[in-house]
Amino acid sequence: MSSHNILLLPGDGIGPEVMAEVKKVLNWLGSQGAAKFETETDLVGGAAYDAHKLAITDAATARATQADAVLFGAVGGPKWDDVPYEARPEAGLLRLRKDLALFANLRPAICYPALADASSLKRELVEGLDIVIVRELTGGVYFGEPKEIVTLENGQKRAVDTQVYTTSEIERIGRVAFELARKRRNKVTSSEKRNVMKSGVLWNQVVTALHKAEYADVQLEHQLADSLAMQLVRNPKQFDVIVTDNLFGDILSDIAAMLTGSLGMLPSASLGAEDPATGKRKALYEPVHGSAPDIAGKGMANPIAMMGSLAMALRYSFGLLEAADMVESAISNVLASGLRTGDIAAKGQNAVSTGEMGDAILKEMQRLAG
Ligand code: NAD
Ligand code: IPM
Ligand code: MN
Repeated sequence: MSSHNILLLPGDGIGPEVMAEVKKVLNWLGSQGAAKFETETDLVGGAAYDAHKLAITDAATARATQADAVLFGAVGGPKWDDVPYEARPEAGLLRLRKDLALFANLRPAICYPALADASSLKRELVEGLDIVIVRELTGGVYFGEPKEIVTLENGQKRAVDTQVYTTSEIERIGRVAFELARKRRNKVTSSEKRNVMKSGVLWNQVVTALHKAEYADVQLEHQLADSLAMQLVRNPKQFDVIVTDNLFGDILSDIAAMLTGSLGMLPSASLGAEDPATGKRKALYEPVHGSAPDIAGKGMANPIAMMGSLAMALRYSFGLLEAADMVESAISNVLASGLRTGDIAAKGQNAVSTGEMGDAILKEMQRLAG
């Protein structure tokens, strides 16, 4: 029986609420005997700040480094608006991404047939949608130096963020996108703003050269990031794999979320490089959404993005493909049965709570398991 160490970092707001549903599923999967899951829980974000005055401690970061996978809820909220910048809740997540070198963020956007009417776009535009945004996660303007606010002699302040990419950073994320496309519909759309940014010029050159040298069998197109944002809402089904930088990937994936009906639907996997000795890679799985302060504590959050992130962990970190498929089929079947949390409910439809949605998914998994 395989055994897997998982660090749970529920975080803030709806993070712990959606994590509670995933825990139910993990416990049940563990009880089935196919695999053993050892879970530990730690603090991150505002919860860590309240306890330690830090967005994440060294000890929690070390636990994350040692775990086979991290499941992350969400961080942030108005309660921590005034904490020092270095200790803001989001810094905990950014530290994990950087320290674990999780450079590849896969954000699949799938529109379940039953939800085609929950999207803000017309049914025919989103029905059957299945795209993946491959977001570079440890470089770009998120981490480039200098990053500062300085006071000038004239009393004005000057804020600087720096967008930096190197050849090898672009190449390794490009490779992830091409490899993924080969297992899908064999098309990659690379996105930057080479018309304005030097990093965009290099991005375009490196992706083009990599394609020519190693992936000529994959269809490659380039789209400027602003135009791609427009195309995502005009005709999203033209895409298969989109590869882009850290900031564009952040923004484009929130747009993609609405194609699926709700931000509460989008899972993600943040992956490091494969260790050639063990074949393993560090990984953190998290919903694309945040801590949703507007609905936190009300039992209204949709747990499906978190549940889908668990499915990605089962697939990518633990090789438990059947269990991963089972989670995803259960989500699909429960949606087909008409059950909806508030964010995906039709006008006037009764919405179920976070716990009711989680229970229904678990029950459906139990039914599928026979
Ligand atoms: P958000 O994603 O938290 O919420 C945006 C909107 O989507 C809200 O109306 C919210 O109610 C809704 N929503 C999000 N997830 C939902 C779910 N599972 N079910 C139902 N509705 C859902 O974005 P925001 O309000 O801009 O940010 C709030 C805080 O979260 C900020 O502090 C931000 O920095 C942080 N944040 C954290 C993460 C993360 O931890 N990975 C991601 C994004 C934002
Ligand atoms: C995301 C979030 C994060 C980001 C924040 C919370 C740091 O928006 O994962 O999409 O900007 O990357
Ligand atoms: Mn985001």
